[in-house]
Amino acid sequence: MRTTILSIQKMKAERQRIPMITAYDAAMARLVEEAGIPMILVGDSLGTTVQGHETTIPVTLEDMIYHTRMVARGTSKALIILDLPFMTYTVSVEQALTNAARAIQEGGAGAVKMEGGEHMAPTVARVVQAGIPVMAHIGLTPQSVYQLGGWRIQGRDVNSARHLIDDALALQEAGAFAIVLETIPAELGKDISSRLHIPTIGIGAGPDCDGQVQVFHDMLGLLEGKTPKHAKQYAHLNETIKQAVSSYVAEVRDGSFPTEANSFAMHEATLAELYGH
Ligand code: KIV
Repeated sequence: MRTTILSIQKMKAERQRIPMITAYDAAMARLVEEAGIPMILVGDSLGTTVQGHETTIPVTLEDMIYHTRMVARGTSKALIILDLPFMTYTVSVEQALTNAARAIQEGGAGAVKMEGGEHMAPTVARVVQAGIPVMAHIGLTPQSVYQLGGWRIQGRDVNSARHLIDDALALQEAGAFAIVLETIPAELGKDISSRLHIPTIGIGAGPDCDGQVQVFHDMLGLLEGKTPKHAKQYAHLNETIKQAVSSYVAEVRDGSFPTEANSFAMHEATLAELYGH
């Protein structure tokens, strides 16, 4: 049995912090599950980390289903959340229901994630009523990056902080089982977490959220260039991979790979018949 939304909520009730991480294929997902992650987000961040886009906007539902299937095949215990991509749940409640159903039926996810505040509450409520768990996502919502005017910290002034508190309460009321808080001041992350009975999962929202989420490629140092401030690099796989591949390049060039250990021999009798020795 996979981790359920009830066991995630119990973690908050028992004051156990909840680690979540993104994964996009079976191999990655297997590793993170074996490392003890109870909840994997197939984030639309795959648009930037895997597909090479500058934003998450070009990601399609087909892409998300494809990657979620792989993650589901690579795991057996973690709760898998499919991040509904841009414009696949905001056109109408019917659209959200249809696409959330595809996430579960075709993708093999156990829940979906939707970006947006109070205005998304009626949609969240209908999807939850249909039996599909929803993780909400407020603060810096990357699908609205153009509307927000860039990758900016949200909730820094009194009005927008109050808005975010109201958003969180409305989404909880609508039935979201958890809520991602992205790039907001730590004080606000703490305040929202203490007001809600559902878990908050922070990314750049301070240490007092009930859980944390990190993007796989950021925390393992897989991308070139600057890492976002909210990410911590627990490894530098970039360097490890480049060193490994350049050793391979050198060994192929100088003939030291492959050796007998990586090769297959013919049986003596076949050799004798074929070549006469
Ligand atoms: O797409 C993603 O990876 C996300 C996380 C940053 C929360 O939405």
